[in-house]
Amino acid sequence: MELNFRGKQVVVTGGANGIGLAVARGLAAAGGSLWMFDLPGHQLDEAARSVRAQACPVDVTDRQSVRQAFDRIDHVDVAIVNAGIGETKPLTETSLDLWDRTIGTNLTGAFYTLQAAAEHMMPQHDGAIVLTASTNSYDGEADLIAYNASKAGLLGLLHTAANELGPYGIRVNAVCPGLIRTRLTASSFANPKLLSEYFKHIPLGRGGEPEEVAQAVLFLASDLASYITGAALLVDGGQMASKFGTWGKEGDTFDGQRWSRVRFR
Ligand code: NAI
Repeated sequence: MELNFRGKQVVVTGGANGIGLAVARGLAAAGGSLWMFDLPGHQLDEAARSVRAQACPVDVTDRQSVRQAFDRIDHVDVAIVNAGIGETKPLTETSLDLWDRTIGTNLTGAFYTLQAAAEHMMPQHDGAIVLTASTNSYDGEADLIAYNASKAGLLGLLHTAANELGPYGIRVNAVCPGLIRTRLTASSFANPKLLSEYFKHIPLGRGGEPEEVAQAVLFLASDLASYITGAALLVDGGQMASKFGTWGKEGDTFDGQRWSRVRFR
């Protein structure tokens, strides 16, 4: 079987950058007809042009904006619920504004998108939805209280929607990326000292690329995953499987971007 989206209408939120853009590229290459939802501006227009997507200026925090964009599409087969923001602040310095913006985009925005997608797909008795959650849906990275709460909340959306939409032939799944090289994480990837410590806890010894998340998203959105719903797929180089860390033993070397080991034991 091959990855095939020919004849499918696909919505990607947050499609103008990073993981969303990599997903859009993959979907376009597999024959999908794309509707790219993102904040208005030249980034959206350029990204949409690059993958021959319809550019849809949408603010996912605005329910009307999401609904109006969905209403432009007569038949939605796949929805990739991916738009998100993340800003670090300690718990005691997290303002109500930061909390509201983060929950509003990552969780409430995902709810609006999921709800609109479900309403379009239910009468069709067919569809696939993939949410971009995170390893932070599970663990407690410091200084990201609002982000972590939003990503944990996505698992609630995932499980409930999979339960409710299964009878309509609609599958709902999530990917949970670890540290992926996008503009959201550019400062981390520019800091080898931080990466050296961080990647000690990643069995594959490195961060991920947006395309590596996109491959997982495409799989879950495709007919290849026809018996998978309610699943959260870690795309983290094994980070969540590494209890005490993997790297830093004698002979292990770090080149600024990845750990490697040459000897066999
Ligand atoms: P990014 O910043 O490169 O892309 C996010 C996109 O979402 C941007 O195009 C942005 O304009 C759009 N967006 C933000 N607010 C929006 C709004 N209100 N309405 C519509 N669009 C909006 O970030 P990245 O890294 O590609 O993130 C994509 C998703 O992946 C996010 O949900 C993020 O939380 C998640 N994620 C990212 C990880 C990483 O290491 N980069 C790790 C785990 C999850």
